[in-house]
Order: sequence, then C-alpha cells, then structure tokens
Amino acid sequence: MKNKVLITGGAGYIGSHTCIALHEADYDIVVYDNLSNSSREAINRISTLIGQNIEFVEGDIRDTELLRKIFASHEFFGVIHFAGLKAVGESVAKPLLYYNNNVSGTINLLEVMTEYNVKNLVFSSSATVYGDPESLPIDESSKRSCTNPYGQSKLMVEHILEDLAISDTGWNMIALRYFNPVGAHTSGKIGEDPKDIPNNLMPYISQVAIGKLDKLNIFGNDYPTVDGTGVRDFIHVTDLAQGHVAALNYLDKQINLNESRTIQKNLVGFLPINLGTGKGTSVLELISAFSDVSGKTIPYQFTSRRSGDISSCYASADKAKSLLEWQAKLSITDMCKDTWHWQSMNPNGYE
Ligand code: NAD
Ligand code: UD1
Repeated sequence: MKNKVLITGGAGYIGSHTCIALHEADYDIVVYDNLSNSSREAINRISTLIGQNIEFVEGDIRDTELLRKIFASHEFFGVIHFAGLKAVGESVAKPLLYYNNNVSGTINLLEVMTEYNVKNLVFSSSATVYGDPESLPIDESSKRSCTNPYGQSKLMVEHILEDLAISDTGWNMIALRYFNPVGAHTSGKIGEDPKDIPNNLMPYISQVAIGKLDKLNIFGNDYPTVDGTGVRDFIHVTDLAQGHVAALNYLDKQINLNESRTIQKNLVGFLPINLGTGKGTSVLELISAFSDVSGKTIPYQFTSRRSGDISSCYASADKAKSLLEWQAKLSITDMCKDTWHWQSMNPNGYE
C-alpha cells in the first residue's frame, strides 16, 4: 500500500514542487493550505503536471476541528509541515501574527497528530536558526540563535519538537534546515510567486530582468567575501523537493527496521538536517549567471547593508548525504535558467 502524507502549506512555493516529487516517488498526498500566501491556480497546475486531481483541503492549521476531520478520514503515514509565514520584515512589524501562525499553529497540528497517533513529521526549518555563524560551512551542531520573530518562530518550533521527542519516543521528526531555495519546475508551470515586491534576491533579479522592477539594490559591497557582496548557499527547489522525499523514505526505513527488531531500536526522535549544496555564491556572481542565461542586463546599484544580514552562509551537506542518501545535483546555471523560464512564461505569477 502507498504511504499517504498530509502536506500542510502544499500550495506554496516549496510545497508545490514537493507535491510533484512525492507523486513521482509513489506517495499519496493530501494538501492542506489556507491559501494565505498561495493560490488555487497552483493546485490546478500541480494537478496538470501529475495528470490527476490532487486532494486539496482549504484550511488553517489553527483550525482544530477541520484538522480532526481530515485525520479521521485518512490513514496518514506522516505529515510534511510547510505551512507558515516567512517574511522577516513583516514578522518584525507583526510578531504576534508570526508566533500565532507559526508556533501556535504548529502546536495545534502536533496535538491533532498526537490524538490520531500520527507521529512521523518532516518540518520546514531554516538556516536562519544559525543566526550569524561562528564558522563555515555550517553543520547541524552549530550554535543556534535568531534575531527576528520569523527566525525565533522556527527556533521555538525546533525546541518544541526536541521536547516532544524526549517526552514520547514514538515520535520520528526531521527538521530540514533549508538554505536559500531558488529556481522553479523545469516545465515553467510552477514557481515562486511573491505577492508584493520580493524581499529575496532571486525573485528580485528575475523581476528586474522581466522589466517589472527598474533595478536591484545590492545591500552592501563591503563584506569580507570574494567581491564584497553577501554569499549564500542557493539550492534548486527541485533538489529541495527531492530532499523531502529522501526524508520520508528515511523515516519509513527506520520505522520498518524498528518493527523488525526486538531489542535495540533505532530511534529517530528529533533529527535536524541541513538541505544545501555546500557551495557559496555571491550576489554579484548570481547576477552574472542570471544575465548569461537570460541574455538580460540586470541594472543594479550598491546601497547600505540590510539590517540583520550576515556576510556568508553555506551548509555542510554531509549529514543529508550520509543519512538520507541525498545531495543537491543542480547548478547555479540550472537555478537561473528555470527561474527565468518560469518568470517569462508567467510574468504576473499565477494571476
Ligand atoms: P510559501 O509562503 O510559498 O508557502 C507556505 C504555504 O503555507 C502557503 O501556501 C501559505 O498559504 C500556507 N500557510 C501559511 N500559514 C498557514 C496556516 N496557518 N494554515 C494553513 N496554511 C498556511 O513559502 P515557502 O517558501 O514554500 O516556504 C515553505 C516553508 O519553508 C515555510 O515554513 C518557510 O518558513 C520555510 N522556509 C522557506 C524558505 C524560503 O526561502 N522559501 C527558507 C527556509 C525555510
Ligand atoms: C533572508 C532572510 C532569512 C530567510 C531567507 C530565506 C533576512 C535578513 N533574512 O535570508 O531569514 O530565511 O531570506 O527566505 O531577510 N540582497 C540584495 N538585494 C536584494 C535582496 C537581497 O542585495 O534586493 C542580498 C542580501 O543582502 C543577501 C543576499 O542577497 O546578501 C541573499 O538575500 P535573500 O535572498 O534575502 O536571503 P537571505 O539574506 O539569506
């Protein structure tokens, strides 16, 4: 029998790509999303790409009764929990909204999972939990600290999951700490669709390339990096989606192993794993790669540093490789090419 998985936030950017990867890997999926930062059109496109209608429930993770109804009517192997708000600036202006949605919402989901004895979880964490890293590349044992409510909400959920794992060894939880997800599905049918002016670099560049924005402001050229601009570990969203399949496969394998063992159990508990490429790329290097694939000049100007930004951030991807047998395959060129394909086919996103 196929494993069935609930995907909270499955209509969003990373969730939509993961739905396709899960379908290809023979998982059954049910998407649960309140569409606060996504659209029904994303669901239609996922259905078109996989050649069948996906099961979609419009709902909020804070709605206990609706969640109960969904858990009562399906036999879930586990949950991939993407649902959350993710804009750093907005989280500073509206901290209660972020703690309510991301932290209270997750607690609510965990309570309903407990009620229905569904204790396998893959949680969307972020490299933001490492704050300003003391050394590079960043591995999973690095110190955690956050400077804004969005980051705090991710860190708080990690702590909650750690405590839950201690309280009840029946839980199997992987927190995937994403580095900088970019790119789009090769079909050009799904991709990142920021509702306002993008905060993140790649969607900003692609909106400059298509002519929706005049020029890019580069936040600082005096960092101790290869060219003075910030360095990040950009990872293709398709690789990231495969990382979720690998995480579920890992949970499935560990659970089967445990069932066949009588004495020594291999407990998963709470397992944090980085999803990154292990390579850093600077802002100027990304602009140059994007210009090459799109044939567009990206006008830019240097401005002062953005508050809260760090100089460099890239992952040690060793743990994902050894435990999940996963590693990123796609290059910066692929990331730019697929972003540009999506942007040119959908100049106004899903509208
Ligand atoms: P996204 O906004 O595109 O997707 C999140 C989805 O969750 C949206 O479809 C939104 O409508 C839904 N959602 C939000 N609150 C909800 C609620 N209360 N109930 C039900 N649905 C709700 O974002 P994304 O880029 O796909 O990110 C997915 C997850 O990964 C988020 O938790 C985010 O914090 C995390 N993450 C993202 C990045 C990134 O750069 N994109 C990096 C690290 C971590
Ligand atoms: C940002 C968030 C982080 C979040 C991550 C993924 C902040 C301070 N951090 O990280 O919490 O987890 O997105 O959603 O917002 N840049 C420009 N001009 C721009 C946009 C970005 O020069 O218009 C630069 C930044 O200064 C940085 C790099 O590009 O050096 C990458 O920026 P971005 O895509 O926003 O990602 P992060 O800063 O890693």
